Amino acid sequence: MRTPLIIGNWKMNTLREEAARLGRELGDALAGATGVEAGICPPFTHLAALAEPARKAGLALGAQDLFWEPKGAFTGEVSAAMLKDAGCSYVIVGHSERRHVLMEPDDWVARKLRAALQGGLTPILCVGETLGEREQGKTEAVVTRHVRSALEGLAPADVGRIVVAYEPVWAIGTGRNATPDQAQEVHALVRKLLAGLAGADVADRVRIQYGGSVKPDNVDVLLAKPDVDGALVGGASLEAASFARIVKFRRA
Ligand code: PGA
Repeated sequence: MRTPLIIGNWKMNTLREEAARLGRELGDALAGATGVEAGICPPFTHLAALAEPARKAGLALGAQDLFWEPKGAFTGEVSAAMLKDAGCSYVIVGHSERRHVLMEPDDWVARKLRAALQGGLTPILCVGETLGEREQGKTEAVVTRHVRSALEGLAPADVGRIVVAYEPVWAIGTGRNATPDQAQEVHALVRKLLAGLAGADVADRVRIQYGGSVKPDNVDVLLAKPDVDGALVGGASLEAASFARIVKFRRA
């Protein structure tokens, strides 16, 4: 049985006061959520301050990115050890905004994922096609490339420690989400790829989140699909009531 995992990705939003308020509000709004694991990924500058409120709210803390080197002359970068030290247990790697706005190549994503594992963090590996790629029938090829390039060569036990987030780029921040069937189709593909890389037992354990315009009014049907094990939530995670409703999704 895979425990559903709902993660809020705050992206580059909130100043200190807003972040603190959201942290407090989440504590109240999430009371009574059971059978689900939830977490937040605020901007780097708020991580340390949110560690305690997140713990009190029963939320895991995660970061939105990391660099693969352990330390040194890498201006602007943040290491796995720094994130751990700030209270993080999760870190997002290969988010589409980093792949497409910051032009991060696949081999960077692979290095970051390894650094996260080595640093004792759970990487959330984001994969997903653009609208153009979907329209050209390349969804399977792109998702396969994202999964394989990030995970090939890892020990099966390490594959078992990751989370995958399928986020079709055309659904992120657009209000246009994949249908439950479209999501299930790609999630099943991801699980098959994981089985090929690390065996069926490991693949069966790995949680595969869906991301892209997940809202209180579509979460229930998306998470009703057998291979959809949670959600990576952007916009709707910036408001305590809507994030809490997503965390407390109704089971089919
Ligand atoms: P969205 O973002 O929910 O605002 O579409 C999801 C994500 O990018 O993780």
